[in-house]
Amino acid sequence: MAACHGGGAFAPVVSLALALMSVLVAGDDPYRFFTWTVTDGNISPLGVKQQGILINGRFPGPQIEAVTNDNIIVNVFNKLNEPFLLSWNGLQQRRNSFEDGVAGTTCPIPPGGNFTYNLQAKDQIGTYYYFPSLAFHKAGGGFGGIRVLSRPMIPVPFPPPAADYTALIGDWYKANHTSLKNTLDSGKALGSPDGLLINGRSWDGYTFNVQPGKTYRFRISNVGLATSLNIRFQGHKMKLVEVEGSHTMQTTYSSLDVHLGQSYSVLLTADQPAYDYAVVVSTRFTSKIITTTAVLRYSNSAGKAPGALPGGPTIQIDWSLNQARSIRWNLTASGPRPNPQGSYHYGLVPTARTIRLANSAATINGKQRYAVNRVSHANPDTPLKIADYYKIPGVFRVGTISDAPSGGGAFLQTSVMGASYRDYVEIVFENRESEVQSWHIDGYAFWVVGYAHSVQTSTKFLNGWREMVGSKQEDLQPEGCHFAVYPKSWSAIYVTLDNVGMWNVRSESWARQYLGQQFYLRVWTPSTSWRDEYPIPKNALLCGRAAGRRTRPLAPTRGSSRRSKQRQDLS
Ligand SMILES: *[C@@H]1O[C@H](CO)[C@@H](O)[C@H](O)[C@H]1NC(C)=O
Ligand SMILES: *[C@@H]1O[C@H](CO)[C@@H](O)[C@H](O)[C@H]1NC(C)=O
Ligand SMILES: *[C@@H]1O[C@H](CO)[C@@H](O)[C@H](O)[C@H]1NC(C)=O
Repeated sequence: MAACHGGGAFAPVVSLALALMSVLVAGDDPYRFFTWTVTDGNISPLGVKQQGILINGRFPGPQIEAVTNDNIIVNVFNKLNEPFLLSWNGLQQRRNSFEDGVAGTTCPIPPGGNFTYNLQAKDQIGTYYYFPSLAFHKAGGGFGGIRVLSRPMIPVPFPPPAADYTALIGDWYKANHTSLKNTLDSGKALGSPDGLLINGRSWDGYTFNVQPGKTYRFRISNVGLATSLNIRFQGHKMKLVEVEGSHTMQTTYSSLDVHLGQSYSVLLTADQPAYDYAVVVSTRFTSKIITTTAVLRYSNSAGKAPGALPGGPTIQIDWSLNQARSIRWNLTASGPRPNPQGSYHYGLVPTARTIRLANSAATINGKQRYAVNRVSHANPDTPLKIADYYKIPGVFRVGTISDAPSGGGAFLQTSVMGASYRDYVEIVFENRESEVQSWHIDGYAFWVVGYAHSVQTSTKFLNGWREMVGSKQEDLQPEGCHFAVYPKSWSAIYVTLDNVGMWNVRSESWARQYLGQQFYLRVWTPSTSWRDEYPIPKNALLCGRAAGRRTRPLAPTRGSSRRSKQRQDLS
């Protein structure tokens, strides 16, 4: 495991703890410790000084590097003057939604307080990121890359790259996150972003260094708030190799659309004359196109590469839809385990249930809101998962959001959908609006089985499409945890609900999710076995109507080794 050097700070005290723990849990999966301090700080990514959110003094925050099955222990100290949480986009928190770090699962870390997240990259590989989930903090920074490498014995379907770079791309506002939140709270729209950033910098502010002839991996995540982006490298092609933990058929693209929240890995070979090339990122589907650049610098560069910046698609929807459809899972490549990723014929397995979800914009109490199947989600005073654990009544009701869109106006409600553990479910996301949607589901990876540029979802139409799906295993899209729904279109996913917990299903358009375009999927089993779901963490913060309760009594075995032991027994 030493091959993967962590980005975290191994403080002396922590190393001692690590040494002790490795004695206690010998043979268990390795631990990686991170101690992070979150502060307010001035940043000026677009040349204007503004209030940002720093982690250990950095914007973007430090990167998490881990290997499949590693335990990732992150102690977060909140030095902001408001409650704070980080969430782990793409890390699945198997059996452990308490650690998910969103308002519905985890009590906020109070100002001056801390909380140690106990995460595990269980059976995962791939490219993800973390971000601050409360208020409108994501607009201030506080995000960073997560990469989960394959274990040394597991074959990766391409040679090790000369370097592995992270490119966090996203739109940005000059107004600070507090001011953006106030704008939304007052019922107004944010308007167009002021610029784009690549790793926290604009216009040639960030440099990726390459050596002639070598091949590099770029892990690209759209950590922005409002817009789909397109990325391209001047004079170079990208070979797509991974999407959110799945190895793809290695197809070459000259530019790639990255919707809000999505992560892709591409390989790029420095096979051109030695210059400084532009890495260009621009907005998609916006009336005003915003662009920014970073630099791809050859070690022996003769200066700026001649020629214009490469152009990319701007408003074309079908271009993006066709590109999304062209991305294929490599069924023979290995994933987190040595066996091929695509081991069963998903199209022939009958689904237990079809859920249809339609997003909408609405005005409620004179203010702009967004809804799913009429419900505009409002967070209750107690995290849903914690209320569920202690059986605290009056916090939420299961079934507050229906399985299908219906007529009528939108309303505010705490939105929880019930589902049974292990059900294999089809979910059709319908977008009758003219804005592209990007959706994410916490706790899961799933297949997008269809993108349709149509709002037709009659039973007959869906049946015809299902027959097609059943016959085309080789055309399978990679498993992932984000997908777009194009304007006046639908996208459908199949998901096996094999992770018990309370899971956030949300728009990755940050104003939309803040204003209610999200809900929680409560995947439930009557079993109380730790094999199905872990109990509340011993260090869980308790708030709202759960304040003053006790977390479970201390285990008879010593301290924190108990859960790891349990994990070991089960794996
Ligand atoms: C955020 O922006 C608002 C509006 O410009 C300003 O009044 C406020 O002082 C800023 N907050 C911080 C902490 O910089
Ligand atoms: C806060 O940090 C300390 C170590 O400094 C740790 O022992 C404690 O468990 C953390 N608190 C929570 C709630 O995780
Ligand atoms: C799929 O993965 C296999 C196994 O690693 C590899 O040999 C093959 O080249 C990959 N195919 C494509 C099209 O990327």
